[in-house]
Amino acid sequence: MIRMTIDGRTVSSPPHTDLLSVCLDNDIFVPHLCHLPGNPIEGGACRLCFVEVTGAARPLCACTVTVAEGMEVFTNTPRVRELQKSALRLLLSAHHIDCKACAANRRCGLQDMARRLNMRLRAAPQPGLMSDNPVDHTHPAFDYLPHRCILCGKCVRICQRHQPEVQLSFAGRGFNTLITSFGSTASASVDCAECLACIRACPVGALLLKDGSLPASP
Ligand code: SF4
Ligand code: SF4
Ligand code: FES
Repeated sequence: MIRMTIDGRTVSSPPHTDLLSVCLDNDIFVPHLCHLPGNPIEGGACRLCFVEVTGAARPLCACTVTVAEGMEVFTNTPRVRELQKSALRLLLSAHHIDCKACAANRRCGLQDMARRLNMRLRAAPQPGLMSDNPVDHTHPAFDYLPHRCILCGKCVRICQRHQPEVQLSFAGRGFNTLITSFGSTASASVDCAECLACIRACPVGALLLKDGSLPASP
């Protein structure tokens, strides 16, 4: 086992584990929206999970760091809190907030992160950042709402884990990036309707069933 300190507390974990998982497994809050437990370490997409690691020149995204023996980590310094809040502000600036009309209301990752970081969840749209792509109805099992998508990539990664024939991917570039499905293929019609792992993994209300609802928890 690897031993390290987080906020002065000694914790241990198996080797090759990402630092964010170790924090969360030990009930140490670090904001996160793109982390998929059990997936290999990847470059962070949401940029929420900043922590300070002694010896590192600058704060690091905990989900991109592999734990090491003797590591000393701080999760709630003023510096990392400001970075975490800035990352959340950036996500909100590209997100159409309309919670009362949203199926994810009260089970939404953005709402949860804002509450935990003591921030108000208010609309602050930035021209050019907000997606004006229309709702994509082409998939037979669900709809995709680009104006709510935070491009965390969890739906794509969990689809790769669950389906032999991947149904989702990123398309476009920069501010025009969105999630695309491969439409009404045979496997999309049958396998996706039984799976729905992507909708359950989505931290916001960007993937919805055809009737505008979210599936019940498995
Ligand atoms: S995804 Fe979350 S923050 Fe966005 S409208 Fe829905 S409930 Fe509100
Ligand atoms: S649809 Fe949901 S899970 Fe997929 S990238 Fe957008 S916010 Fe993330
Ligand atoms: S959880 Fe680390 S960057 Fe999103």
